[in-house]
Amino acid sequence: MTQQNQQSTLEKPVFWSIPPSALTFEELADKSAVLKQRLADISKRFSDVRFATSLAAEDMVITDAIAKASAKIKLFTLATGRLHQETVDMVKITEDHYGVVIEKVYPHESDVQAFIEQYGMNGFYDGEESKKACCGARKIKPLNAALLGADAWITGQRREQSTTRTELNLEELDDARGISKFNPLFDWSEADIWTYIKQEKTPIHPLHLKGYPSIGCEPCTRQVKKDEDIRAGRWWWLQSDSKECGLHVNK
Ligand code: ADX
Ligand code: SF4
Repeated sequence: MTQQNQQSTLEKPVFWSIPPSALTFEELADKSAVLKQRLADISKRFSDVRFATSLAAEDMVITDAIAKASAKIKLFTLATGRLHQETVDMVKITEDHYGVVIEKVYPHESDVQAFIEQYGMNGFYDGEESKKACCGARKIKPLNAALLGADAWITGQRREQSTTRTELNLEELDDARGISKFNPLFDWSEADIWTYIKQEKTPIHPLHLKGYPSIGCEPCTRQVKKDEDIRAGRWWWLQSDSKECGLHVNK
């Protein structure tokens, strides 16, 4: 092995890291005020609004704004059974920090068993169909259950996150469930999110400090190299247009 080759083999990859603040104090104050107003308006228009939190960065911004706006919005998380321990721990950290309750919605044991019998525990690596089946059992069915009786729900999606989200609006109709769906951060940039988190000192999911810009289930999420797409670490073995788990398919 030449000295140059040996050196490149030993070089550690440089991972994504939290971007520097991009807004002045005043600019962030304006953006925060708009966010809080959006949340307050949603909670006034609808009687049972529920926010889906994954405990990742965007969702911590919304949680912080809900708490500070005292908006009447319930919080839930989809406890898929395959989350990182750090994500599980963030639920309690967030509850304690804000004095809120985050409902944990679990998949049905029988759905999980049926998936494992047909595809194997980690069968989602085999391709799109099996990944869809796993997300169906561990995320989509629980999401449907979590939204039963709600008349609106909120997500932390942003337009910039992916090519599948560029058309995102503040308000959409969730045809699948016949209720309204809101994306109050649809027009925020990644730097806006991190400026908010730093200025408001929200709790930070520890994996964001280890090269993970986007966090889902543990076996389907990995670190992202500097300059890679921020969703490159999600379902990396699939084509980029199928890097969605179906939570945000409206029809
Ligand atoms: S995903 O479709 O690829 O998994 P992503 O991780 O980008 O979604 O998160 C987008 C939004 O979906 C989050 O801001 C949150 O509202 C919702 N979401 C994602 N994962 C969960 C989860 N485990 N529990 C509750 N909501 C979630
Ligand atoms: Fe299953 Fe992976 Fe989807 Fe989680 S993200 S539900 S482990 S396929």
